[in-house]
Amino acid sequence: KIKACIFDLDGVLVDTAVYHYKAWKRLANELGFDFTEHQNEQLKGVSRMASLDLILGWGGIKGMSNEQKIELADRKNTWYTEMIGAMTPSEILPGVRDFVIACRNAGLKTAIGSASKNTLNILQKLDLQSFFDAVIDGNSVSAPKPDPEVFLKGAEALGVSPADCVVFEDAVAGIEAAINGGMKTVGIGSPEVLTKAEKVVSGLDKITVVELDTL
Ligand code: G6P
Ligand code: MG
Repeated sequence: KIKACIFDLDGVLVDTAVYHYKAWKRLANELGFDFTEHQNEQLKGVSRMASLDLILGWGGIKGMSNEQKIELADRKNTWYTEMIGAMTPSEILPGVRDFVIACRNAGLKTAIGSASKNTLNILQKLDLQSFFDAVIDGNSVSAPKPDPEVFLKGAEALGVSPADCVVFEDAVAGIEAAINGGMKTVGIGSPEVLTKAEKVVSGLDKITVVELDTL
């Protein structure tokens, strides 16, 4: 019996991928190269520093020191947080609020499990903080997805065993993290990409709480 729902943030509750893309693209352009929206797909669910490494690789840039990389990542994050600052609750993805409320009305616990260090900031802009019993984000984990750490910490904070949790994720690495943690999975996106998820829907407007018990 499902007792808790743990939600990824970027791509599940809100579409921040476009802001990440704009900020990374601006950084790449300053460094003298460009990358496509298709390449950007590979950055979903990937931590800030790991994303930078991938992007530098695409630009054929080698031999940067750690300090230089941190400076570049900070620069990107400054632009990203400027864009986040302008976000409003109108950007919450369709069905999100209703689904989370339905979970809570059904007695399920709710948590966020995200790699983003900007999680609290985003939840605040969306006015969603009060909808979650626990928030585990990039500031409280050391091992990135597909390591299950972020979701296991979420389950622990909720006092629910992993087997009684459903994770909602849009990233392949995120679905793998949930499976590695012994949790049930719902993919948000396309079944061709999220092949390991038990169920895949295009958004939280396409699933009901009752359906969770069939997982
Ligand atoms: C999420 C996003 C990634 C992002 C990561 C870190 O997983 O899907 O694209 O790189 O969070 O975000 P941050 O806000 O800490 O840079
Ligand atoms: Mg995501």
